[in-house]
Order: sequence, then C-alpha cells, then structure tokens
Amino acid sequence: MSDLSGFQLRALPYFFRLGVVFLVLTLLGGYVVSGLHLSWHYENRDENPGLTMNDIVGAYHGVQSPSPLIEALESGHPETIEDFERTALLDWLKGDRVSQDYDNLDLGDEAPSEIIAVSCLDCHTRGASGPDAYPQVPLEYWDDIQKIAVSKDIQPAGTEIVAMSQHTHAPTMAVIMIVLGLLGMMTRFSKKLLGFVVCVAGLGLLVDMAGWWITREYAGFAYAIVVGGGLYAAGTVLVGLAVVIDCLLPRGKQQSA
Ligand code: HEC
Repeated sequence: MSDLSGFQLRALPYFFRLGVVFLVLTLLGGYVVSGLHLSWHYENRDENPGLTMNDIVGAYHGVQSPSPLIEALESGHPETIEDFERTALLDWLKGDRVSQDYDNLDLGDEAPSEIIAVSCLDCHTRGASGPDAYPQVPLEYWDDIQKIAVSKDIQPAGTEIVAMSQHTHAPTMAVIMIVLGLLGMMTRFSKKLLGFVVCVAGLGLLVDMAGWWITREYAGFAYAIVVGGGLYAAGTVLVGLAVVIDCLLPRGKQQSA
C-alpha cells in the first residue's frame, strides 16, 4: 500500500471538493481555448485554409515551396516556346528584379511581359477557351504573375521566441500535470491506470517540448510535436475528469488507511 492510499479526495470537506471541481474545469476550459488559439495562430503559415501539418512544419522548421511558374517552366511546360525564351523567363524569375524587370522596356522583346504575352496568353487568359486552354491560372496582369512568381519561404520562429515561449510553457504544463496527477492518485479510481496515463502524458510533454528544437533540424519531427502534445492534452483531460467525477460522486464507503 502506498502512503497516499490513506489520503482520499472524498474524505476532504465538501466545499473544498467543489472548489477543486471548479478549478479543474477552468483548467480544462483553458486548454480548449489555448488549443483554438494555437490553431488560429498557426493556420495561416501556409496559404491553405485550416491548420495543416504544413503550418506546423512551417512554424517549427520552416517551409520552402518553389514558385509554380518556375516549376512549370523547368518541367518543360509549355513545349511550344524556344529555349532562349525559357532561359530568359527562368533567369528573370530567379533573379532579384522580378517586379522591376517584368515589363522593363529596355529588355525589348525579351521582357518577360512580352514573352508571356506571345507564348502563354493563348491559353492563360480568363477568357481563354479551347481544348488546351487553362483559364484557371491567368497570366494577363502583373497581379496574376506576382502570386505565382515568388517561391514561398516560411521561416520558423526565431530561437529567442521559442526559448521565451518554452520558458513559460514547459514549467507550467509540467507542474499542472504533477498536481493533477497527485489529485488523481487521491481518487477512488485505479492508481495503476491513472499512473500510466500520467506517465504517457509526461512523456508526451517531454517529446513535445524537445520537439520544438529537434524539428528545427528535422522537419519530420513535427509529427512528434503533434503526437506528444496530443498525448499530454489527452492525459490532462482524462486525469482531470477522474478528479472532477470523484469530487462529485457521493462519498460512499471509505477505505481506511
Ligand atoms: C497550349 C496552351 C498553353 C500554353 C501556350 C501555355 N500553357 Fe501553361 N498550362 C496549360 C494547361 C492546359 C495547364 C494545366 C495542365 C498542366 O499542368 O499541364 C497549364 C499549367 C500551367 C501552370 C501550372 C499551374 C498550376 O496549377 O500550378 C503554369 C505555372 C503555367 N501553365 C504557366 C505557363 C507559362 C508561363 C506559359 C508561357 C511561357 C504557358 N503556361 C503556356 C496550357 C498552356
């Protein structure tokens, strides 16, 4: 028998237990809100709506997605243009004067806007029709081009920001689980089972927190952040609910120490 077996939540005064219920519910509610906050905060890291794995990789590792224009040209699309035109477009897109040179008059026929007008607009205008047309990706105006000309480069948060955030998160989240776990040990529910939940949640938090750093090097570790954070959150909810239920249930027959 462990020493804690004599100290039971349900032996404590009614108002204390009610207080614990309020506090644990507040804690769990706080997690729901911070979960929502996280998803709002990160969901726009990439251009796709909603919180995706890409957003998380972007936040902790950074994401580079190449420009669709460069990709198309490098893949040999369209087959109809001359090599020198393809080279001219690629040189332009990979240079650092993309907006300035788009319709630079000094470039004459080799100005990107000219090449595009002659070689692409048959198929890439909003009104283009025909079997080969692709009006979904118009290339008529600079605004159209600009959107797909640049490679996207999502930078992860700086090390100082990560360190500052961890400085507040790691200790609080760890202490919360320790306190909840101790309360859980004072409930009538299986100590072995709750102990296992606390162990998994603790490991999850460790992996999550370490993952903030490891993911900077290895993008794949972002999954460990998600799984670890998920396990910690699930553990908190389970132990928290056990505590709430134990406080609300009638005292019943008490075990003697
Ligand atoms: C003969 C018609 C035709 C011409 C000419 C043409 N395209 Fe396309 N383009 C298409 C079609 C059809 C698609 C979609 C299918 C595919 O990807 O092959 C496409 C796809 C693309 C995409 C990919 C869009 C995406 O979904 O990521 C880009 C970028 C693109 N074209 C750029 C160009 C550029 C730049 C030129 C001129 C140098 C050009 N295209 C000339 C028909 C054309």
